Amino acid sequence: MRKKIVAGNWKMNLLSAEAQELFSTISKEVTSSEKCDVMVFSPSLFISKLTEIKSNVKLGFQNFYPEEKGAFTGEISITQVKDSGADNVLIGHSERRAYFHEDHGFLKNKVDATLKHSVNVIFCCGEPLEEREAGNELKYVKQQLIDSLFHLNASEIVKCVIAYEPVWAIGTGKTATIEQAESMHKSIRSWIEEKYNSEIANSISILYGGSCNAANAKELFACPNVDGGLIGGAALDANSFLQIIASF
Ligand code: 13P
Repeated sequence: MRKKIVAGNWKMNLLSAEAQELFSTISKEVTSSEKCDVMVFSPSLFISKLTEIKSNVKLGFQNFYPEEKGAFTGEISITQVKDSGADNVLIGHSERRAYFHEDHGFLKNKVDATLKHSVNVIFCCGEPLEEREAGNELKYVKQQLIDSLFHLNASEIVKCVIAYEPVWAIGTGKTATIEQAESMHKSIRSWIEEKYNSEIANSISILYGGSCNAANAKELFACPNVDGGLIGGAALDANSFLQIIASF
């Protein structure tokens, strides 16, 4: 059975007290026998406070720098991530690609750094609107995976989780249809099978992200190839996030 996951990406939101309150509220409700793993990717500033809260919710960083230490002013190293106890990271989010110009080579370095330091990764991929409108979405997403993930060997790739986040659905309230989501997830699984094998393809969790909320999560998570969600806006409200978790 593939691991089911609901992960919240808080992005650049909340102040310290709000973050602690939200995490505490969620933590009181999420039990150790949940049908899915639950994760929160908090602004890095809050991580040390949040790790003090007793919780079944795993914590992670939205960003890091793929070097162990050195003169990289303002950055957080992969070893600092590991040391924090919140050893989960997002890589390849479309906002990092677009606003911070993280390119395929840099993302590949980030992926390699996580594996070297046994940090868990959710690798994000997804096409912008113009690629979807031109009918290029499959080619575009496949290339993102080839460029930054498919250099891994079989024992490495099985440690990764993939999140498909169509850029046009992020923060827009416009969710991919069930057919669009399932079709892309199925294709991603088929490319993993093509590159590795079917056992590996069937073992990797693929999450959907992009305006996933309490109203549509159940239907999305019922798709055979959708193993959970990476949630932005709806993860900032405890009730919505808990309802999404309860959709499994
Ligand atoms: P929204 O759920 O706000 O669309 O954001 C999705 C996302 O980018 C999660 O990483």
